[in-house]
Amino acid sequence: MTVQIRPAALDDLHLICRLRQQRASWLAARGSDQWSTEASGLSIDYFARVVDRALTAGETWIAEVHGEPAGTITVNDRADKELWTAAELADSLIVHYLIVDVRYSGHGVGRRLLAHAAALARTRGRSWVRLDAWTTNTDLHAYYRRAGFRLVRIAGPDRPSPSCALFERHIGEWQTDDALVGARPAAFPMTSLTESPVVLPVLG
Ligand SMILES: CC(C)(COP(=O)(O)OP(=O)(O)OC[C@H]1O[C@@H](n2cnc3c(N)ncnc32)[C@H](O)[C@@H]1OP(=O)(O)O)[C@@H](O)C(=O)NCCC(=O)NCCS
Repeated sequence: MTVQIRPAALDDLHLICRLRQQRASWLAARGSDQWSTEASGLSIDYFARVVDRALTAGETWIAEVHGEPAGTITVNDRADKELWTAAELADSLIVHYLIVDVRYSGHGVGRRLLAHAAALARTRGRSWVRLDAWTTNTDLHAYYRRAGFRLVRIAGPDRPSPSCALFERHIGEWQTDDALVGARPAAFPMTSLTESPVVLPVLG
């Protein structure tokens, strides 16, 4: 199955919100509290605002399978306050809002999107892809481990965020293979954190 990745357009916001709601329902049906507002997950309105900002900044991408949207990822160099050290942030790109349409589960779309983040990191001269995952969702942690990530630490314990399981993978661990073909990092107009020092809650 060929997965193509394209920059998200402003009018993809509705699609991305639909994916978020679809997977939030999927999570709830599995008995997980990930992304539930009761467990301090983002409301869909707040989510839409932060994704809209990411879309405007050119930080969001859509995976397509046979021209159909199958998933999304946002990649930038911002993270929730105090999750990562300044040194860790400086040498990484941060993954947010990785979501694959449940109809495309099991086809490696998520891994393809993570490889895209690695390609972007390489282009930006960053060594690491980092992300925060829902602290209590050990099944999700297992997914990231299978995808080659390592648990760095659980941030806190004073952090109010429910997404404090910090994972990382060095870009050198991704091979330059088909997974990186189609990544178009040259078209990645990301603004650096120092130029845009806005820190928003960006829960996993
Ligand atoms: C994480 C995700 C993007 C991975 O996409 P993918 O690479 O195409 O992988 P799949 O969807 O096939 O999932 C792989 C496995 O991880 C499990 N998994 C993925 N996300 C999970 C989650 N949030 N909670 C529990 N299990 C999860 C799946 O159930 C599946 O398990 P299985 O192999 O036993 O069936 C996708 O599963 C997804 O959208 N999950 C929900 C949203 C999410 O948690 N995003 C990450 C935020 S940090």
